[in-house]
Amino acid sequence: MGNELKRFAGKSALITGAGGGIGRGISLRLAREGADIAACDIDQERLDETMVNIKETGRQGIALVCDVAQEGEIENTAKRALAAFGKIDILVNNAGIGDTNKSFDEIDADLWDKVYAVNVKGPFFLSRGIAMDMIEKKIAGKIISIASTEGKTNRAGSLAYASSKRALIGITQGLAIQLAPHGITVNAICPGLIDTPIWHKADRDMDLPLGSMVKMVGDTAMEQRQLKLLRIGTPDDIAAAVAFLASEDASYMTGQAINVCGGMEFS
Ligand SMILES: NC(=O)c1ccc[n+]([C@@H]2O[C@H](COP(=O)([O-])OP(=O)(O)OC[C@H]3O[C@@H](n4cnc5c(N)ncnc54)[C@H](O)[C@@H]3O)[C@@H](O)[C@H]2O)c1
Repeated sequence: MGNELKRFAGKSALITGAGGGIGRGISLRLAREGADIAACDIDQERLDETMVNIKETGRQGIALVCDVAQEGEIENTAKRALAAFGKIDILVNNAGIGDTNKSFDEIDADLWDKVYAVNVKGPFFLSRGIAMDMIEKKIAGKIISIASTEGKTNRAGSLAYASSKRALIGITQGLAIQLAPHGITVNAICPGLIDTPIWHKADRDMDLPLGSMVKMVGDTAMEQRQLKLLRIGTPDDIAAAVAFLASEDASYMTGQAINVCGGMEFS
């Protein structure tokens, strides 16, 4: 992408869901700008692909296979990342799962708990662990979570997913208040419609070629003028906003939930 900026030289970042579309985009953007990357994902194969890309940037990367829904695994991942780089300056809570838009009478307690464990509990406990280390080492760190425009306005009618993303915005605000005295900023990004593998489950469920569902939803949103910029977003669109929030240019921002969504959401 030819980013000339090197805003993160000497910094290290921990990114969850780093094997996925947006997580890989964020990992590579921060690495190209000079950060060493602790890349975490539950999926070893996807993580390995991201690691190859990180190595190509010339930065150091370590792969941490971890289920962010498991508190013990989170603790271990934080420890391993800190042992590898000595400190974490930037944490990006990006791993997330959907509830495949099941109707209210189809959602069972197991699905509810799973979505909340990955989208809410994991980001909180990982943020807590890393923030405690930042405080101890007097690091003016940056914590960024990937929420969703669905956490602001529930357009698709999803229940567990949209409400979990709203909870993540609430956690962002709570942590922003409590960590401000330590110079740590905490913000969220709310992506709109981004072309990534998260949509492929719906494609497979409906026996459609991969990429069909996001295109269908995008086409409808564009026809209805909800998607004002008339294109589906890319992981690079989100990575650019994360890099901004992780940089000193955003040092006067905390507790914000920034929409990156082609104008789909205004609140
Ligand atoms: N793509 C979109 O349209 C969109 C829109 C709004 C918000 N988001 C959010 O962006 C984030 C990234 O999503 P994406 O679109 O890149 O999806 P993706 O499916 O491509 O990536 C998600 C990654 O998270 C990993 N993951 C899932 N459960 C995990 C767990 N328990 N522990 C560790 N890793 C786990 C997956 O293996 C995958 O690599 C998610 O939080 C998602 O909710 C995406």
